[in-house]
Amino acid sequence: MRVGNEDFQSIWIDGADPHVIKVIDQRMLPFSFRIKELRSVDDVYEAIDNMTVRGAPLIGAAAAFGIYLATLEMTAATNVRDHLQNAARYLISCRPTAVNLSWAVNYSIGKLSEDMSPGSLQEQALKNAVEICETEKEYCRQIGVNGLKVIEDLREKKKGETLNILTHCNAGWLATIDYGTVTAPVYLAHDKGIPVHVWVDETRPRNQGARLTAWELSQYGVPHTLITDNSGGHLMQKKMVDVVFTGSDRTTATGDVANKIGTYLKALAAKDNEIPFYSLFPSTTFDFSIRNGAEEIKIEERDPEEVIFVTGSDGVEIRQVRICPEETKALNHAFDITPARLISGLITERGICRAEENEIKKMFQNKFK
Ligand code: MRU
Repeated sequence: MRVGNEDFQSIWIDGADPHVIKVIDQRMLPFSFRIKELRSVDDVYEAIDNMTVRGAPLIGAAAAFGIYLATLEMTAATNVRDHLQNAARYLISCRPTAVNLSWAVNYSIGKLSEDMSPGSLQEQALKNAVEICETEKEYCRQIGVNGLKVIEDLREKKKGETLNILTHCNAGWLATIDYGTVTAPVYLAHDKGIPVHVWVDETRPRNQGARLTAWELSQYGVPHTLITDNSGGHLMQKKMVDVVFTGSDRTTATGDVANKIGTYLKALAAKDNEIPFYSLFPSTTFDFSIRNGAEEIKIEERDPEEVIFVTGSDGVEIRQVRICPEETKALNHAFDITPARLISGLITERGICRAEENEIKKMFQNKFK
């Protein structure tokens, strides 16, 4: 996507030095646009852990580049099998909820063999990471085409009036490699001259909505309004929301969706107000091995400091301020589960289906084991 006069992806290999992976430092946006270099497995781990890079497809791609960097870290004395398995375990352990992370690492490792020469291992690992990026991009492009149909249908019902889409967190191009999942159809609609407006949930505690989704939409010129996380239900009652679009970090074989904490509340409010609620994600976000999201998906618990302090800019520097008494404790569950029964449809690269096991099976037959 364009930033100023330049096209960017959220991750890429340095054209001048193939030992360096470059990413946009998402902790700094929208206050400062900074590019960070990743040169080792540790760098990749740290970038995923501290959320320099975040969003399910992007952390998968970053980890695949991590496996590539692991192949560059080998010497003649290295036990290839142990080295790669250790790197894989280490990277997968970084964040537990988004399945794309383990999927991408396992995919990459599966294409490497200890019999390969160091040069072939490096070449293959790089090929894997680039292939994952290209595939995710294409999937998001297709999600855009499929999601646009939903927007066009709803717009017809509104007789051309502006369509109000509510979103939570950031499922934009920053979270994927390009286009985004939620944002892909929004950008297409905007390009086609369909009047769309996005309600952007701020998404406490890390404010991915306020900082990242609002920034992306501003860059693209899509009308949007920032709202507090608690506003959605009220706006829905007031008929100010036509549809809810959110992403996913892990979707079960039965259509339960793990996504950023707060997504579940939006789905409940949407159901109560008979407003369609869609989850948009690439098939790499499916975890067909599980059937019950609430029981089987591990929810990441992050540092309570993220709740206790808010980060912002005073126009000069990026600063953190405390928002509660010093002795107050905080709890920081990073994701929640939206049960399939609250979801109107799943929008993937293959099309739109109901959040039901049979429908999912039909659409993804060759992916079910
Ligand atoms: O904690 P984050 O910022 O990595 O959480 C991201 C989300 O919850 C996104 O909605 C999800 O990864 C989908 S991105 C297409």
